[in-house]
Amino acid sequence: MTTKPIIALDIPSKQEAISFLDSFEQESLFLKIGMELYYSEGPDLIRELKEKGHQIFLDLKLHDIPNTVYRAMKVLATLEVDMVNVHAAGGTEMMQAAVKGLEEGTKAGKKRPLLIAVTQLTSTTEKQMQSEQLIDSTLDNSVTHYAKLAYQAGLDGVVCSALEARMIHEATSQKFLCVTPGIRPSGSDEGDQKRVATPEFAAKEGATHIVVGRPITQVEYPIIAYKNIDHQWKGDK
Ligand code: C5P
Repeated sequence: MTTKPIIALDIPSKQEAISFLDSFEQESLFLKIGMELYYSEGPDLIRELKEKGHQIFLDLKLHDIPNTVYRAMKVLATLEVDMVNVHAAGGTEMMQAAVKGLEEGTKAGKKRPLLIAVTQLTSTTEKQMQSEQLIDSTLDNSVTHYAKLAYQAGLDGVVCSALEARMIHEATSQKFLCVTPGIRPSGSDEGDQKRVATPEFAAKEGATHIVVGRPITQVEYPIIAYKNIDHQWKGDK
């Protein structure tokens, strides 16, 4: 596995984020910035982290009419983030508009951010999907269906559970990215995550990226936890 584990920076302020990152010294990291930190600190934080040499997955899960998503993506591309996402439920036209916005917003000579889709949120149960979204199918079918729509719309991949990666690759392409949260090294606290996987298992199932939060951010020695997870993910331990 060549990708770095993505650290979910679920930290409320820039000050705390920077002091957390200081413990990694010069290590160049792949960081996931979510709504909490982005809404409190804005694009300046992204620019600062990029200047320090980190890669950024900006996890804002856009879901709106195609024109609005197109315009928003055009702006996000100027931040030179490495990965962004949308809800596949916004539809094919919205996903295509997101790709177009990213392409147009990417500066000449730069790589456009990877675009991935959320299929069904992992907090959604099959029962809730059926009764509230009126989808008369299984959760797996809905996840696969949205993954196929994202693939056909030209997206690079999906956020999914490691347990879904194999099924998604079969329905799309082996090259389609499966970015998987819910990762726990064996023996660590599951917290509120229900369907967890170890880094080795995620790699075996075909995950292309893993997202890890608390097993790195909430421990005494984050850099040691990070390196252990990285070894387990890359299979060199
Ligand atoms: O602390 P933990 O490793 O559980 O953090 C996982 C990160 O991945 C969190 O930022 C969470 O919001 C995010 N995430 C998730 N499940 C999804 C999508 C995103 O846990 N389906």
